[in-house]
Amino acid sequence: MRLVLMGGSLRAASLNARLLRHLSRELETRGHQVSAFTGDALRLPLCQEGVAPSPETLTLHAALGETQGLVIVSPEYNAGIPGHLKNAVDWLSTMKPSPWPGLPVLLCAASPGAFGGARGLMAWRATLANMGALALPEAITVPHADQQLDADGAPTDARTAGSVPKVLDGFLTLVARLR
Ligand SMILES: Cc1cc2nc3c(=O)[nH]c(=O)nc-3n(C[C@H](O)[C@H](O)[C@H](O)COP(=O)(O)O)c2cc1C
Repeated sequence: MRLVLMGGSLRAASLNARLLRHLSRELETRGHQVSAFTGDALRLPLCQEGVAPSPETLTLHAALGETQGLVIVSPEYNAGIPGHLKNAVDWLSTMKPSPWPGLPVLLCAASPGAFGGARGLMAWRATLANMGALALPEAITVPHADQQLDADGAPTDARTAGSVPKVLDGFLTLVARLR
């Protein structure tokens, strides 16, 4: 299946970008075709009605238009969605055709904190529901990610590591059913 991954912060050492790269490899290993958007690919101009989208925004829109599922790997900023990711979502919601209605989405987060970015994912759920996207009820969260992600982005805590294949498989089942 064709899948897009989007997320990470804008900083080079982003823990979420590291987790995204791990999930990307896991999906490729399962035979899926993966496109990843992170870092500068998400450094988009601020969304403004009446202004044409930038070439980078058009590239993201085209990828979302062709994908069968989206994996979001989002930092949590003040219990919400970081500005650059919300900005990307807002651009995509104004562009035609909207990629959001009926799009299956897997939510993931990594944080040095004890909750693993889970509160930010609640904000994501509200925004995705508003646009008609279908967020999987389960999510991947990595608490204490500054200590519990290896250099390749794989969770080192046994419980978190064990949940990753289960949640990925649940998401892939949803995507397959919706195809
Ligand atoms: C503006 C700002 C707000 C933050 N708010 C939260 C928060 O609400 N919850 C949390 O767990 N971490 C919070 N953090 C810490 C981030 O989780 C931490 O910086 C994390 O490493 C960011 O993700 P990244 O490693 O992908 O850049 C915040 C960081 C910033 C810069």
